[in-house]
Amino acid sequence: MKKSHCLVCQLALVCLACAVLLTGCTPAEQDKAGVTDESQILLGFSQLGSESAWRLGNTKSVQDAAKRAGVQLMYENAEQKQEKQIKAIRSFIAYQVDVIAFSPIVEDGWDNVLQEAKKAGIPVLTTDRRINTADDSLFVGFVGSDFYEEGRRAGRFVLQKMVDAQHVNIVEISGTIDSTPMRQRAAGFREVLAGDDRFIILESVSGDFLRSKGKECMQELLSRYDDIDILYSHNDAMTLGAIEAIEEAGLTPGKDIVIVTVDGEQAAIDLLKAGKINCVVECTPLIGDMIMELAKKLAAGESIPRNTYSEERSFTEFDTDLDSLPPRGY
Ligand code: AHR
Repeated sequence: MKKSHCLVCQLALVCLACAVLLTGCTPAEQDKAGVTDESQILLGFSQLGSESAWRLGNTKSVQDAAKRAGVQLMYENAEQKQEKQIKAIRSFIAYQVDVIAFSPIVEDGWDNVLQEAKKAGIPVLTTDRRINTADDSLFVGFVGSDFYEEGRRAGRFVLQKMVDAQHVNIVEISGTIDSTPMRQRAAGFREVLAGDDRFIILESVSGDFLRSKGKECMQELLSRYDDIDILYSHNDAMTLGAIEAIEEAGLTPGKDIVIVTVDGEQAAIDLLKAGKINCVVECTPLIGDMIMELAKKLAAGESIPRNTYSEERSFTEFDTDLDSLPPRGY
């Protein structure tokens, strides 16, 4: 622990942080109850929003892991707004947390606030998504998924499924523009299909990782093209919306249109088993324990790896173990 939070300082800082909505087991609540453990580390975590079951699972994973690890958590939800994430990080700096972790909604635009964290001597970990900066000293590490590999896994399934096809029309519903999963899932997919001119990406549209927008995007795509062979969707939430649109158009998802999705929510695995989805590329939100382990090391002044990846796989219609899969937990 590099900082001591004396009662007077804590009270002053609690007032300062009053404008900030704190949820979960907050330091302020713990002080009131008189149970603050001075040996605990204080972690400020800025979540980007609540756009999907994946995101809710990620938040729960972080909150549960903090309790298990005895880490005090200052939790902020930015509700899909970068300005709110920046404000949350500033509040963590004002509160002199030991470590800051955040899941950046988009890659660009973090330099100023991270310079402030660096000046305050607070290590910053990016979780789930990455930032784009010319100054690598602004964050100490990243923990989450390999989104390029997820895109490649999606591409490899398409190659396997379409091995005998002469011509394949693909539509893509991507995630939030300029976010890491949007950029890397698109790039990994194209990398695998590159050079095989049977594959045509008719159009790529952004559904912002939202179920409602996934449905709208698919409705528009179906109104423009009557020869779609494959839908590649960057998350399960959008896929669920797209499936509604496909069914409302009188088509059979998984048969008339092959569906490849990313995340691995329980709902998507259930639809894979029902034959309405053909491939689910796993992206696990359950990274809370890894975050706590790294945060503890950082608070103790230890170094951490630049990248820590979760272990993932894909689930497809060719798998024989689908019925024995344990519940997904998100
Ligand atoms: O950053 C991870 C992505 O964000 C997940 O695929 C998606 O469901 C979430 O919105």
